[in-house]
Amino acid sequence: MQSFAYIVASILFILGLKRLGSAATARQGNLLSAVGMLLALVATLIDSGFSWGWILAGMVIGGAIGGYAAKKVEMTGMPEMVALFNGSGGIASLLVGWASSTPGTTLTPAVSIPLFLAVLIGGVTFTGSVVAYLKLSEKIDGKPVMFKGQQILNIIILAALLLCGVLYVINSGGIGNPWLILAVLLSFAFGVMAVIPIGGADMPVVIALLNSYSGLAACAAGFIINNTVLIVSGSLVGASGIILTGIMCKAMNRSLGNVLFSGFGSASSSAGKAVEGEAKPISADDTYYILEAASSVTFVPGYGMAVAQAQHAVKELGALLEENGCEVNFAIHPVAGRMPGHMNVLLAEADVPYEQLVEPDDVNPNMAATDVAIVIGANDVVNPAARTDESSPLYGMPIINVDMAKTCIVLKRSLRPGYAGVENPLFFCENTRMLLGDAKASVQSLVAQFKED
Ligand code: TAP
Repeated sequence: MQSFAYIVASILFILGLKRLGSAATARQGNLLSAVGMLLALVATLIDSGFSWGWILAGMVIGGAIGGYAAKKVEMTGMPEMVALFNGSGGIASLLVGWASSTPGTTLTPAVSIPLFLAVLIGGVTFTGSVVAYLKLSEKIDGKPVMFKGQQILNIIILAALLLCGVLYVINSGGIGNPWLILAVLLSFAFGVMAVIPIGGADMPVVIALLNSYSGLAACAAGFIINNTVLIVSGSLVGASGIILTGIMCKAMNRSLGNVLFSGFGSASSSAGKAVEGEAKPISADDTYYILEAASSVTFVPGYGMAVAQAQHAVKELGALLEENGCEVNFAIHPVAGRMPGHMNVLLAEADVPYEQLVEPDDVNPNMAATDVAIVIGANDVVNPAARTDESSPLYGMPIINVDMAKTCIVLKRSLRPGYAGVENPLFFCENTRMLLGDAKASVQSLVAQFKED
């Protein structure tokens, strides 16, 4: 009965993932996967012979903390929350490994190897995710942290971990536990060391990679306790995390190795060329006249749209432009915002039609023919230095070429740089106008003018 429930749960996970692939079916996909997880949980608990008291206490305490955190979190805090989720997955797998390693019990390599891997990957995921959380929430500086001898220290930690693994597996007949304790400490240290040299625009890759690690740790934990549905779900998270990592690397035109180790080089430590010029401000009234006369408008949302919660106003402006006979689309950069799919989630929440969402590769070839590109709180993803300034940390990252539109209007509050901390020459381009202020307030005033008309 349990095996049958696990097969059904696994099928639901796979169908759920498939549906998560498109915004139109994503809600359904989420529901299917959640039902699969409920089924897997119930089937595991019914047949487990566990003490129900502990399980219920864990469910109530964990559920209360999770429910409270999910209710309280702002939409802009979601990326940090996802980082903490990854970390929780990692530490949970580590604890499963730890709890299965009873001193005095002889473990076969079929158990001791996955056990060691669950502890190792779980530990790295936990502290790596905590550092990612601290960086994303700006509790610590988001810039790459580098110091002399960092690479050598990393190699020493890795070698020590490998040695601990070998000694633990050889001695897991009771005297192996000191090696496991050491491995826990070293994996915690390695998680920190792996994430501190990565920062700025490279953070999306770290988030996706930690997500993948949390799946791999869960998969290893599944082998320890011989739970097939945990192996399947862990593998799915591990594999989809790796695919997402690949997508993020492609979005930034970087190899994974380059992202993970570029902190050791010089590119990320440079802030690029200084940008000079005078930005040309524009009023909401004048912006309205430009938009009113435009026959094609491309919206480019970024993190500032999430901060301002401007998505509903943006959708309304898009609809009014369409009513005015204008062709409208929304160009979504894969690393815009602070988490994969951030802009898609916000625009879906505002019911922006999916067919209006376009990728940079589709929108860039038509940019020169676009009347107005209107940037809503985006910065790094529209920074032309990524194309032109070899000393810029963003150099090589494909951007949305809003500077090539006939007119570019940038909505943000100041001329401050974006997440990567790099100056943006877009603000000083001949065809750029800055509509300074909170994005929601600016868009709302444009909407009001269209309605008055
Ligand atoms: P950013 O480069 O971070 O720029 C966002 C801009 O929004 C800021 O320059 C800010 O300028 C503006 N802003 C903030 N609040 C605003 C408000 N209320 N109204 C109007 N504007 C506001 O954003 P992006 O272009 O979306 O790029 C994302 C960056 O984050 C990339 O570097 C990316 O690599 C990184 N990152 C992405 C992820 C994922 S997975 N997507 C994860 C971690 C990091 P003002 O302060 O002047 O208003």
